[in-house]
Amino acid sequence: MNLKDKIRRMCREKNAVIMAHYYTDGEIQEIADFVGDSLALAQKAARTDADIIVMCGVHFMGETSKILCPDKKVLVPDMEATCSLAESCPADKFAEFVASHPEHTVISYVNTTAATKAVTDIVVTSSNARQIVESLPKDMPIIFGPDRNLGGYINSITGRNMLLWDGACHVHEKFSVEKILELKEQYPDAKLLVHPECRGAVVRLADKVGSTAALLKYSISSPATTFIVATESGILHEMQKACPEKTFIPAPPDDSTCACNECSYMKLVTMQKLYDCLLNESPEILVDAEIANKAIRPINRMLEISEKLGL
Ligand code: 13P
Ligand code: SF4
Repeated sequence: MNLKDKIRRMCREKNAVIMAHYYTDGEIQEIADFVGDSLALAQKAARTDADIIVMCGVHFMGETSKILCPDKKVLVPDMEATCSLAESCPADKFAEFVASHPEHTVISYVNTTAATKAVTDIVVTSSNARQIVESLPKDMPIIFGPDRNLGGYINSITGRNMLLWDGACHVHEKFSVEKILELKEQYPDAKLLVHPECRGAVVRLADKVGSTAALLKYSISSPATTFIVATESGILHEMQKACPEKTFIPAPPDDSTCACNECSYMKLVTMQKLYDCLLNESPEILVDAEIANKAIRPINRMLEISEKLGL
């Protein structure tokens, strides 16, 4: 029996569900029961009746699932799969920043540790950040962390002046404006798809700015046949699968000698590690109860507002 069949059989025997983010390797996306963006993964985890959730993504995604489903076992194939954005916002430093602005409502991007979420009022993802910010009174002072690029983008489209934490994603920061402009010249009919974690100079060139799921949806519904994709290259798997006749070109990073448009953390998830973690039911995500009790509130607020807004 091959690894894939063994994994599927173990899932049936253990009543386990495999969830995967669009940035994981294609074969991980193929074996998953559910593939989605950060919002969809949280929504799906909140509703699953499986006994075990295997989160093929990065650590904060496993933590979010565990916080939402404290009675379930949440496994991740590799504990080292963290996130540079989450790492750029240590909870103690963020708590100091929050304490120095007591009149501010605190919005945190889902790409944060549970401890950072514990000092947050509302969690957002790139799928709902705009709508959640717009649902708050216009004059409400807001802290937005940790992604300065997503925060700056939301400020620009909502006319807000949120205070931004100075964090960023090492993948999305690296896309080259010059090389994207060259590609646009080479493919004048191509649409440029950009994740809002990219720098403002890249976002301003975009035909579509959105979460991984929003970019995928746009690529499917657009009549265009060529797309330049400025986000982690794993999303190309689902795009190409959904639209085999269209052309998807990964946007180049500044340094063409590196694979900088790949998230090294997401790519730690392999079929062998997925098999091992199901077999051994380890590594398991555990979240300190006090932190989880605090972090669940802003996560639930996000899910409630998203449901109300039909997101
Ligand atoms: P999405 O919510 O758009 O899937 O983004 C997750 C992420 O980590 C982007 O880098
Ligand atoms: Fe984190 Fe960036 Fe990887 Fe997304 S692509 S998981 S923000 S390091």
